[in-house]
Amino acid sequence: APRTAFVVAIDGPSGSGKSTVSRRVAAALGLAYLDTGAMYRAATWWCLERGVPLTAGPAVAAEVAALPLVMGVDPVSPSVHVGGVDVGEAIRRSEISAAVSAVATNLAVRAELGRLQRAAIAAEADAGSFSGGRGIVAEGRDITTVVAPDADVRLLLTASEDARLARRARDVHGTDDAAAVHATRDEVLRRDADDSTVVEFQVAADGVVTVDSSELDLDQTVRAVLDVIGQVAGRT
Ligand code: DC
Repeated sequence: APRTAFVVAIDGPSGSGKSTVSRRVAAALGLAYLDTGAMYRAATWWCLERGVPLTAGPAVAAEVAALPLVMGVDPVSPSVHVGGVDVGEAIRRSEISAAVSAVATNLAVRAELGRLQRAAIAAEADAGSFSGGRGIVAEGRDITTVVAPDADVRLLLTASEDARLARRARDVHGTDDAAAVHATRDEVLRRDADDSTVVEFQVAADGVVTVDSSELDLDQTVRAVLDVIGQVAGRT
């Protein structure tokens, strides 16, 4: 069948701003938006809810194979439901942030969620659940390389370690003073180090365009990403 959906894949480490930027880019282009990190978070929430120890790899994989997950892909109000429960806020809590790498480094979980992600991307070709344009911006850690290596546009959104820590500190603690940055260090750096053991998101793969947001504010980063999309695919 002819491929009609326009797919933008964006990867990057935590604190790179990729979720906010991807949402804004999707809204600007009238595309759907898929937050794949939220899927790993939802899987983690579900396993904890069900009392499954996250170190029990096969048991976690079995839970995820039956995960009753529904992703809302409107970039203006993205949503995550598990078993009919709106978990949009719960999955951002620090317990989940601290635990999610144990689930994201489970290769059977990655295979299963990767399958769901490909299906969500393919659904946009048929103008599925979201009534915007035909296409999607999908963001995560392995979208440019594993989930959608054939995407029309592939981007790696990076930022210096200092910029990423300051951003996360402002998100989580409302300030980027020294104490807040220190409190954020473990979350950001340890999680990226753990996640890096199974997926490469610090270095751009062949054909992936890097946008470094260290010196850019949100509007400038969105503009830079839209510029790349315009250059690569004539879309802006
Ligand atoms: O982007 P985030 O912080 O919401 O991601 C949550 C976790 O999921 C993070 O530890 C990395 C992991 N992840 C992944 O391994 N692959 C993806 N495509 C997206 C997220």
